[in-house]
Amino acid sequence: MDEAQEYYEHFSLVVGQRDWLRPNLRHARLRRLVDEEIDGSGLRVLDVGCGAGVMTSHMTRYGEVVGTDFSSSAIELARKLVPGASFNAGRELPGGEFDVITIFDVLEHIPQFERPAFIGGLARRLAPQGRLFVSTPYPRSRATVGSRATTPSRSSTRRSSSPTSWRKRRRRACG
Ligand SMILES: C[S@@+](CC[C@H](N)C(=O)[O-])C[C@H]1O[C@@H](n2cnc3c(N)ncnc32)[C@H](O)[C@@H]1O
Repeated sequence: MDEAQEYYEHFSLVVGQRDWLRPNLRHARLRRLVDEEIDGSGLRVLDVGCGAGVMTSHMTRYGEVVGTDFSSSAIELARKLVPGASFNAGRELPGGEFDVITIFDVLEHIPQFERPAFIGGLARRLAPQGRLFVSTPYPRSRATVGSRATTPSRSSTRRSSSPTSWRKRRRRACG
């Protein structure tokens, strides 16, 4: 296990437990967004960086869902709480082709130099006509902006967002 994985072992479990116990506005917005955008069932869905599976659970209404995260403790919790999905613990993305890939508030946790390979991995798994949903914190706005398959996280929409305070929050979030 490398240093980043070691850090997220604890971080993702704690954040996941909190999110299951206290539903939050960011997840409510994401649920609304996917419900507006996805029409259908029987889809193959991959939830990347799923943590303890809060959004993975919501995605099960659209078909067969695989959640993946490199925090094995968060995945252990997800397996218990979301029996309707299957889960993969590790850095490697599961193989296969997916109609929907979601990556909610994960990209900012991936070091910049790893992002091209990471995004390439997502692209190879997305079916032709598949949909990719990405959300990241959006530092300077309180409004919902971006492409229709993107939503800002709660931290960027509810608090004042000077670049300095955002940097501090990001450091806190990413360790
Ligand atoms: C802020 S949490 C978001 C969790 C979930 N998607 C949500 O919206 O509630 C970021 C997640 O990304 C995971 N993560 C970060 N880098 C990763 C990587 N390289 N491979 C797999 N998972 C990663 C972390 O373990 C953590 O669970």
